[in-house]
Amino acid sequence: MNTVTVTASKTYHIYIGSSLLSSLGAEAAKLGKAKKVCIVSDSNVWPLYGQAALDSLENAGFQTVYFVFHAGEHSKNASTWLELLNTLAENQLTRTDLIVALGGGVVGDLAGFAAASYLRGIRYIQVPTTLLAAVDSSVGGKTAIDLTSGKNLAGAFWQPSLVLCDTDTLNTLPRDIFQDGCAEVIKYGILYDPSLFSHLEEKGLSFDREAVITRCVELKRNVVAEDEFDLGSRMKLNLGHTIGHGVEAKSHFAVSHGTAVAIGTAIVSRASNCADCERILSVLQAFGLPIRTDYTAEELYTYTLSDKKRSGGSVNLIIPKAIGHCSIVPTPVEELLPFIKAGL
Ligand code: NAD
Ligand code: GLY
Repeated sequence: MNTVTVTASKTYHIYIGSSLLSSLGAEAAKLGKAKKVCIVSDSNVWPLYGQAALDSLENAGFQTVYFVFHAGEHSKNASTWLELLNTLAENQLTRTDLIVALGGGVVGDLAGFAAASYLRGIRYIQVPTTLLAAVDSSVGGKTAIDLTSGKNLAGAFWQPSLVLCDTDTLNTLPRDIFQDGCAEVIKYGILYDPSLFSHLEEKGLSFDREAVITRCVELKRNVVAEDEFDLGSRMKLNLGHTIGHGVEAKSHFAVSHGTAVAIGTAIVSRASNCADCERILSVLQAFGLPIRTDYTAEELYTYTLSDKKRSGGSVNLIIPKAIGHCSIVPTPVEELLPFIKAGL
């Protein structure tokens, strides 16, 4: 097992390794004070890991309740969030009790936002079960739901009290969802770590999971410690996301997050004439990720501009110069369409 410690507005540990789910109860007990735990999960993850999570928590002496919603991005909305808040209230969870987010990024974002808002904030534990959640969404405290006007438009910065990443849970992931998470793993290599990138080039999909997840989490930990509230360097984690969110939105979320990030990364790499563009495109393809889209530049432009990362008359694009070297470039809105055209 590897441990990474995040020091931000809250200090917490991230445990990464095999067979960790059975220690959930014991680890939750170490946080102290809680009597009740509400496990939040989705309709795919709950049948696979719900009982193990319940057993572990109950064996450690907790009273448990659970809230399971229909899997998918379409559930990450205000009505599921409100239903969850009502479940917490009906079951009389107090300010010292706990929420456990058992699932991928959708579960983590929704449960995290409920934790941030219920009784003005209670503690929660992230138990990521997708690669994307393990390397990205479970760490760093960004929580959110989608509004009809766009993705992640309501949320809060609210750090978890513990992240327990049982790498065995990734074994049940459908291949396409595992590949989806690889887009975020590749992102860390491009942004910060040439040796991680080379490892991915060399090993492809059979990369060393525990080591790679740990490295990604260490890199994210460093970013969060420096810029918890996303006012500066954390924006780099949006490599491929700004235009990627345009792809997601245009598809009405039929295109998944990682796949959209891969397309966005390919577009910015080509448009900015990145020195390592060919290596980036090759790795994305080796991981089964797309590097092109059928959407037109005009369509991507329109949906990209509806993203919340627009700031005044410009959009912050993350531009890869070479592997390990990327910069934040405020790009005037009028330059965005030609930029996207150049990258298609
Ligand atoms: P997801 O949570 O929808 O999971 C993808 C699918 O995999 C779902 O159908 C889920 O039920 C299933 N699944 C999850 N774990 C499984 C397992 N172990 N075995 C079998 N099936 C399993 O999606 P995701 O890709 O994990 O996350 C995407 C979400 O994360 C988006 O909403 C995105 O906005 C958000 N996100 C948030 C942050 C952040 O910092 N908060 C960062 C990146 C992405
Ligand atoms: N996933 C982007 C961030 O956490 O800032």
